[in-house]
Amino acid sequence: MDQRPIGVFDSGLGGLTAVRQLRRLLPSEQIIYFGDTARVPYGNRSRETILKYARQDVAFLRRFDPKAVVIACGTVSSNCLHELQAENDIPVVGVVEPAVRQAVQETKSGRVGLIATRASVSSGAYQELFRRLAPGAEVFSRACPLFVPLVEEGRFQPGDPVIETVAGEYLADLKRAGVDTLVLGCTHYPLLTEVIGGVMGEGVALVDAGGAAAQAVSRWLAEHDALAAGGGGADYYVSDRAADFARLAEIFLQESLEHTAKQIEIEMD
Ligand code: DGL
Repeated sequence: MDQRPIGVFDSGLGGLTAVRQLRRLLPSEQIIYFGDTARVPYGNRSRETILKYARQDVAFLRRFDPKAVVIACGTVSSNCLHELQAENDIPVVGVVEPAVRQAVQETKSGRVGLIATRASVSSGAYQELFRRLAPGAEVFSRACPLFVPLVEEGRFQPGDPVIETVAGEYLADLKRAGVDTLVLGCTHYPLLTEVIGGVMGEGVALVDAGGAAAQAVSRWLAEHDALAAGGGGADYYVSDRAADFARLAEIFLQESLEHTAKQIEIEMD
């Protein structure tokens, strides 16, 4: 048993889709979430900048003495996982490997799609892992840079002409390629499940990277006798206005907030 909290972070609100799954799987855990809302999006930035931000995010979470840190961000997971794991003496779990493993299990045709931010796709981390875990699979990838700002703006409802148009354009090649499984390699994208599912059609399995990571964490804690006992909860921290967080967080989490986020200063050096 380990009563310490689980730290979770993302560039913004997207990581809350992973928190939603963690809360469902591990209701006794205390979760500390940090969303770097002052600096979102990370997905168009250089690897050096992403690493600098990610280190600050982890340093903030480590003030709470977490038993593990979940990188609920495809961009950080695909660009900085190894550095963050090497620098920290607690488990640091990213979303890439859990998502790829789930996709490999799901696909029947071996034709798999990946959508993520530009930085995630160009890092090659997802594609490299597919090559290792499923050498015969064909992976078709597409960066979708407009998805994160649209989701953060609340423009993710099916029927919204802006998101429908953008999704139709981004997904056209993957649909033509006939993939049977599509990795949502950015934790913002589960909010677009209906829109993406509508474009891709019913036969395509969608893999939620944050959800897959939540399952991996849950298994790891159980195997290492590190689950918490008692009533869990969640505390939320952001680096920009807390009022903006409250507006969308309940939609991401699909539960009402017990208390809203606290704003903190993340640029500590
Ligand atoms: N949720 C982040 C991810 O999974 C969003 C990236 C961004 O900030 O651009 O990649």
